[in-house]
Amino acid sequence: MQVGLKVWRFNSRSGERELQEYEIDAPEEATLLDCLDIVKDRHDGTLAYRKSCRMMICGSCGMRMDGAAVLACKTRMYDIANAGHVPVISAMGNLPIVKDLVVDMEPFWEKFRSVDPFLRPGYDEPPDGKEYLVTQSRMNVVHKEALCINCGCCVSECNAMEADPLFTGPQALAKAFRFVGDPRDGQKLARLEKLNNEHGIWECTRCYFCNERCPKGVDPRDSIAKLGAESMKEGIDRDMGAKHAKWFVVSAKTTGWLRETELVPKTQGVVSAIKQTKFALGLAKKGKVPLPVPPHVAANVREARRLHDLVGEQGRNGFWGIVQGEKALAKLENGHDADESLEEIYERPNAFHRPFVKDVETDAKPGDDEEESNP
Ligand code: SF4
Ligand code: SF4
Ligand code: FES
Repeated sequence: MQVGLKVWRFNSRSGERELQEYEIDAPEEATLLDCLDIVKDRHDGTLAYRKSCRMMICGSCGMRMDGAAVLACKTRMYDIANAGHVPVISAMGNLPIVKDLVVDMEPFWEKFRSVDPFLRPGYDEPPDGKEYLVTQSRMNVVHKEALCINCGCCVSECNAMEADPLFTGPQALAKAFRFVGDPRDGQKLARLEKLNNEHGIWECTRCYFCNERCPKGVDPRDSIAKLGAESMKEGIDRDMGAKHAKWFVVSAKTTGWLRETELVPKTQGVVSAIKQTKFALGLAKKGKVPLPVPPHVAANVREARRLHDLVGEQGRNGFWGIVQGEKALAKLENGHDADESLEEIYERPNAFHRPFVKDVETDAKPGDDEEESNP
């Protein structure tokens, strides 16, 4: 097949940038990485990009195609070439470009190192000299995070990192949850304390681009949600982000709506709210925020309250309370009856793909972990 590629070339020494077009002959099964190899072998040996495993394992070949991060070795070119589309290939975002499609990964590794990405065991050696066992269901909690191959595709698309390059970022935070959620780790509270500092979990804007672009289904935004929920469960709620989230819960429970007028004082404090009085009055004048009294209560507020109580009764605090994105998507995509289990949904013909993690409800209950996981 004939494949056209437009590649952004870049030389960091001279600062020169140029969009170069290539037209190549490639086999039908070719991936983007295969096509780049053909360009380099037969057309232009000066083109620079990274690769190693060619099978979605090493994480070296992250780059952008038409402005969205991809793993080149996972991206088939057949449909694109058949459609006559010539994609634009460029280096990943949020990292300095060294040459062409090669970025400097040092800022990425720095963030990675900042979360202590290794187990700090919180138990003594077993007296009988044998190993401790952790149940599979308990380890399933961190299974998705453990799938990360450090490719940087999520970091490339993170708009919070664009606004604040010091933001810890989706990959490092997913890795942080890998250890916060590990029942063997003894530094959970210290880790959460650190992650609640400036540039930590609450800087995420919840744009979900990291979930969308991760080629391994890690879903870093879900990991960040789990870190936030676990922090609040442990009483670490000093950040405005945590207060903001808590006020949403109070609002939904009391009125079924977001009590927007009180959101600023409850999140930023009374002093800050007073400073913004003029702005708030302007919004109220234009009908953008309702007056706090009388409170606007939804007609079916009981349903919101029941939902709140139901979650409480299930004991789904902390990370147990976070619905993994792919499970919510499966339900939305396929529809479901209240009594239908996720397993039944996935068994349907043409159902949404089965997630990596089994439904924790089926094989482990919140609170089981301490007894079950031995350490
Ligand atoms: S959801 Fe958060 S971490 Fe993920 S890309 Fe958006 S801002 Fe970044
Ligand atoms: S979370 Fe996904 S996109 Fe981000 S580095 Fe890991 S594998 Fe790559
Ligand atoms: S070359 Fe290893 S992930 Fe693509």
